Amino acid sequence: MIGVDVDENKVEMVNQRKSPIFEPGLQDLLAKVVRDGSLRCVTQTEKAVIGSDITFVSVGTPSLRSGGTDLRFVRAAAKDIGRALREKSGYHLVVITSTVTPGTTESIVQPIVEEHSGKRLCEHLGFCMNPEFLREGTAVHDVFHPHLVVIGECDRRSGDQLERFYQAFFDKKIPLMRVNPKTAELIKYANNAFLATKISFVNTIANICERIPDADVISVAKAIGIDPRIGPHFMNAGAGFGGSCLPKDLRALAAFAKRIGYRETLLKAVSEVNENQCRRVYELARRNLRTLKDKRIALLGLAFKPGTDETRDAPSIKLIRWFKNAGSKIRVYDPAAMKNVMRIYPEISYAASATKCLDGVDCAILLTEWEEFRKIKPEEFLSRMRTHVLIDARRIYDSVQYSKNMHFVAIGLGRTKTRDKSRECSRRKITTRVK
Ligand code: UDX
Repeated sequence: MIGVDVDENKVEMVNQRKSPIFEPGLQDLLAKVVRDGSLRCVTQTEKAVIGSDITFVSVGTPSLRSGGTDLRFVRAAAKDIGRALREKSGYHLVVITSTVTPGTTESIVQPIVEEHSGKRLCEHLGFCMNPEFLREGTAVHDVFHPHLVVIGECDRRSGDQLERFYQAFFDKKIPLMRVNPKTAELIKYANNAFLATKISFVNTIANICERIPDADVISVAKAIGIDPRIGPHFMNAGAGFGGSCLPKDLRALAAFAKRIGYRETLLKAVSEVNENQCRRVYELARRNLRTLKDKRIALLGLAFKPGTDETRDAPSIKLIRWFKNAGSKIRVYDPAAMKNVMRIYPEISYAASATKCLDGVDCAILLTEWEEFRKIKPEEFLSRMRTHVLIDARRIYDSVQYSKNMHFVAIGLGRTKTRDKSRECSRRKITTRVK
């Protein structure tokens, strides 16, 4: 296997068996495959293409200002592959795994590769669109245990070739679906848009629960998730979804629908609910502290989810900006993602540990459900914080238990502000006695 990247640093790191990104399990896997010679990396596409039979293109497809998809890197890769293929004899398969809008493989990649290689589909060339469904944080596991492999083939020969590759790779039967390239391209967007919709739906229910005394989104989500038509996954309410895929793909699909003349409303609503969800966390802090000016805020968790250092489109990034603008003093802690946030906000304070992050603050906001945050005891919050407002945006703490202390305001998203019933009873008794 030959890897190509234009970034010399990354290539160098991989060849020295060092993972350029934080991804559980990747470092060990990389060390193994580089050591045994099954992977080496280069910066020239030509070398890689000439020395192989299949080229997988997995370059970035960032958002344009309009929300649409920037295909610049896909075009550049297609051109490089085409030029390299001019020098190569025999059949070569080009596989697009980048998330691209429907029509890209056939209308952009194929013509560019054909033009620069002087070769044609079927005779010397094959093209497939093959979306991947890897999740950050569990990417290594997901590579070896796909729930489905989608092959969008430009012709039968291309599809056969890629199917044979996957059969050999997995050495067992895997769920596989062969479709045309445009359908494959849409499958990826539809998949991510549906996941985003599920999250915005459960966040909507959470917000309704907060207005019904004693209702709790966790039980509602659990109950409806048992219905096999709904399913139990992606039903956790929180501060909203982030990361490099869900927000971007949702925007891209909405922009694509508009471009092809469909005035859709659902995807826009899903994005809006997501934006508002993050804003709700901010408003909860503002309401409970009365003012945010000069208040000390601790953010526990910066990564968009546990198991990764990814902070693109993470709720933490927006919240830091809003709190800064409101004049609050911010201290943050994350076991993996602080380096990435430091590049954007070098001026805020970075704690050495989760508990140190709580020292002297007025409000702590739990944003990412890292395992180590679950171990923080109520006493730590009590002894270290100056004012005791805890906003648990991932529901990892027992807010009822926390609120047993008179001075503690513990808020778990998706339920009414916790009031300890036993406390209410004793207060009522006192009132009765006074009367
Ligand atoms: C996603 C898709 O899951 C994956 O198939 C695709 O290849 C890339 O995009 P990823 O971005 O790694 O993967 O994250 P994912 O696990 O999907 O979580 C996305 C966001 O949704 C996170 O911010 C997470 O905290 C949030 N989320 C997830 C919830 O708020 N509630 C949930 O129940 C699940």
